Amino acid sequence: MVEEISKQRDLGEENDEEEVQDTKKIFGVFSRESLTMLGVGVGVVVLLAVITIASVVVTSQADTTGPVQPFPTSGDMLDYLVQNGDIQERDALHVSWYHSANNKSELDKALKSTAMVLEADVNVQGHNTVNETEIPIMAHPPDVYSDNTLEEWLESVLKSKKGIKLDFKSIEAVQPSLEILRKRNQTGINRPVWLNADILPGPNVPSFWPVVNSTAFLGLIQSEFPEATISPGWKVLYLPLTPSYTRAMVEKMYSLIRHVPQRVTFPVLAVMAKQAWPHFSWLLSQSSRFSLTLWQGAENPSVNDLLFIRDNSNPQRIYYDIYEPGLSQFKAAALQKGRLRRFYPGGDLVDYFKPENRDGINIGWDWVSDRASLQSLLKGSRASPTRHGLYFQVKSQTILTPTLHLLNQTYNGDLLYRPTWINMNVSHGAFETPGYITGAQFLDTVDRVFPYVTLAPGWPLEALSEGYTQPLVEDMIRLFRGAWQDVSLQLRAVPLGRSYPGRRRLLEAQPRFSLTVEHGPDQGGYNSGFMGLISVRGGDIHRSFYNMPAGYKAQLFMDVFTS
Ligand SMILES: *[C@@H]1O[C@H](CO)[C@@H](O)[C@H](O)[C@H]1NC(C)=O
Ligand SMILES: *[C@@H]1O[C@H](CO)[C@@H](O)[C@H](O)[C@H]1NC(C)=O
Ligand SMILES: *[C@@H]1O[C@H](CO)[C@@H](O)[C@H](O)[C@H]1NC(C)=O
Ligand SMILES: *[C@@H]1O[C@H](CO)[C@@H](O)[C@H](O)[C@H]1NC(C)=O
Ligand SMILES: *[C@@H]1O[C@H](CO)[C@@H](O)[C@H](O)[C@H]1NC(C)=O
Ligand SMILES: *[C@@H]1O[C@H](CO)[C@@H](O)[C@H](O)[C@H]1NC(C)=O
Repeated sequence: MVEEISKQRDLGEENDEEEVQDTKKIFGVFSRESLTMLGVGVGVVVLLAVITIASVVVTSQADTTGPVQPFPTSGDMLDYLVQNGDIQERDALHVSWYHSANNKSELDKALKSTAMVLEADVNVQGHNTVNETEIPIMAHPPDVYSDNTLEEWLESVLKSKKGIKLDFKSIEAVQPSLEILRKRNQTGINRPVWLNADILPGPNVPSFWPVVNSTAFLGLIQSEFPEATISPGWKVLYLPLTPSYTRAMVEKMYSLIRHVPQRVTFPVLAVMAKQAWPHFSWLLSQSSRFSLTLWQGAENPSVNDLLFIRDNSNPQRIYYDIYEPGLSQFKAAALQKGRLRRFYPGGDLVDYFKPENRDGINIGWDWVSDRASLQSLLKGSRASPTRHGLYFQVKSQTILTPTLHLLNQTYNGDLLYRPTWINMNVSHGAFETPGYITGAQFLDTVDRVFPYVTLAPGWPLEALSEGYTQPLVEDMIRLFRGAWQDVSLQLRAVPLGRSYPGRRRLLEAQPRFSLTVEHGPDQGGYNSGFMGLISVRGGDIHRSFYNMPAGYKAQLFMDVFTS
């Protein structure tokens, strides 16, 4: 059944592609041959077996409450749980949570449970009453009294090995709580501490609704207890069929958080996450320190929605604070082998293909220029476990909009689930060239019609006589720096060899931009592109792609090993 649906979807895509077939080239992308994959598979199985045995030994020792190992409060939650033997691999899917471990009886239950991280709500005693004090207590509004103070709570929790997430319900609670943490840290907290507060209005929440003052919250963390993970959220009200998190909400959050040095995990209401995925995908791409924690309210998120998010993200960067039995159903589905993956078309190629070492060079490229070659490629792909992304080389301005409309339709019909790149050569600034679409128009059209893609701009060939000079590179970077999408700059290896300053500038731009370098017999022998290729190979391997024949790749490997 699944197989059939997948075929129909593929056919659906084929048909869509045929309509724009004649006017542009299409090329698919495929991962390494299955033979190579098989070799890797065996290696992974052996490695996992070794790790599992090792951690079983560690776990059984840990049960005899040995001395607590030092661990920074700002450390990574997955590292901590792996060190404890709670999880065997750095996959946030395996982390388990206990919600509202607030009053003493609830905390007691939480401590006896198998949950790895405890989430609890902090407020000041008697908040917003005449009896308000500065004593932090564990209670969720409307409760403002509790049988458990933060100090007592911490004392109990620190006897366990569970991770800590504190959810601040008012700004008044933040300073006294951080003081308590700081004092307690002198004798050792030795586990990650997450500090959460809703600092912005989110879906269905009017702007006048009170949220925790973001400036004060972030400022107090920096001055009182900077060694923590910050969890800044949006206040959300779930109503069925209402809009989800908007791009403006996500951008506003980013503007508040972009300069903090800490790890940041953004809490997101799970039922609303899929609809807003393009925005969260953008947010995650802004910094490797960012992750998401999907949480659930009264409404159960659908397993399908959660799978979509799982399929579109690095497993280390999404935590699932979801209730049972939904969580177990989702885990079983997520870990099932050979299921159809639905990928966000604007997502990262490396997340999709998961090439060996997450190295972009292990992703193969294949050109398709007519219907017959496309069909034979797709037929081949069904017989083997290879997957394809789509790279549309749009040859003329007039077909850009129709192409994007088609993609929009396909996406909205839930049929486009592969990485999709839009390539055009653009005219701008130092590479202004008649006959090409202006960079601004390219950006605007994609944003307006179908923004959920990777932008793959190239320079007009006419502008490259001296190679990718520094002014050419600068102007391209300036043009696309603010783009909302992931951007991969398209380079030819031969002209790339001509300008050293330009090459250096491209590598500097790499955290924001990925690089795709193209080389092939029609442009010259392997050696003619050597300079350009070796320089890109010296950059970020996760953000560099090589569109060239296997023989050239093999030579590049040799050169890298022998140089
Ligand atoms: C503690 O919290 C739980 C869950 O919110 C609640 O059911 C219980 O009545 C509370 N116990 C006390 C003593 O307040
Ligand atoms: C404040 O405390 C007093 C004395 O303990 C008590 O009588 C009163 O009900 C409290 N007020 C509120 C709003 O909780
Ligand atoms: C938020 O806190 C900052 C710094 O403490 C303060 O200057 C600002 O007035 C506060 N904003 C609001 C809306 O209370
Ligand atoms: C907590 O204690 C550790 C170890 O003494 C220290 O390195 C760290 O700076 C302390 N963190 C804070 C926020 O006080
Ligand atoms: C864009 O320019 C590159 C060289 O920079 C060339 O290889 C490619 O064919 C051009 N693409 C189109 C669609 O004209
Ligand atoms: C994209 O498709 C959706 C659903 O069919 C439609 O509502 C929307 O207007 C389309 N966007 C554009 C820019 O055409």
